[in-house]
Amino acid sequence: MAMREIVKKGDEVLAKKCHAVTKFDHKLHELLDDMAVTVRAADGVGLAAPQVGILRQVVVVINEDDELIELVNPEIVKTSGEQFGLEGCLSVPGRYGFVKRPMIVRVKAQDRNGVPFEVEDEGLTARCFCHEIDHLSGHLFDELVDRTYTAEELEAMEENGVEVEE
Ligand code: NI
Repeated sequence: MAMREIVKKGDEVLAKKCHAVTKFDHKLHELLDDMAVTVRAADGVGLAAPQVGILRQVVVVINEDDELIELVNPEIVKTSGEQFGLEGCLSVPGRYGFVKRPMIVRVKAQDRNGVPFEVEDEGLTARCFCHEIDHLSGHLFDELVDRTYTAEELEAMEENGVEVEE
């Protein structure tokens, strides 16, 4: 297992569409293992393969029980409700924005061996499913907001009584 470099906004790989995974081989397993190490080291809650320069439909998400979920060829099959909250991205360091997402999200995917499964979650993890799956079609969260904020700006807002927690 090895940490991989996280690609930053401006790199064209982040704007490309990812290909479906068809081979559930050691190369995929290595990618998933490396993505797990990388997302933990970066203190993130999710990472998509294009963020490490790989144009494959692969994401990892850490849920609120600190469990890492591997999603291969993920697809959102059901959503309900709505939430509006703060989002950031390891590829857009230091910038945050308020994004509207569904409150509950159900995802259909395959595991690292190609076995299909479905997973449903809410709140922050539901937000994370949407954010990471958007990466697979070349989209970043900042396309969904009027403007982004720095950590300092958010701090100032909080001091003025604006709730900015995720
Ligand atoms: Ni991201």
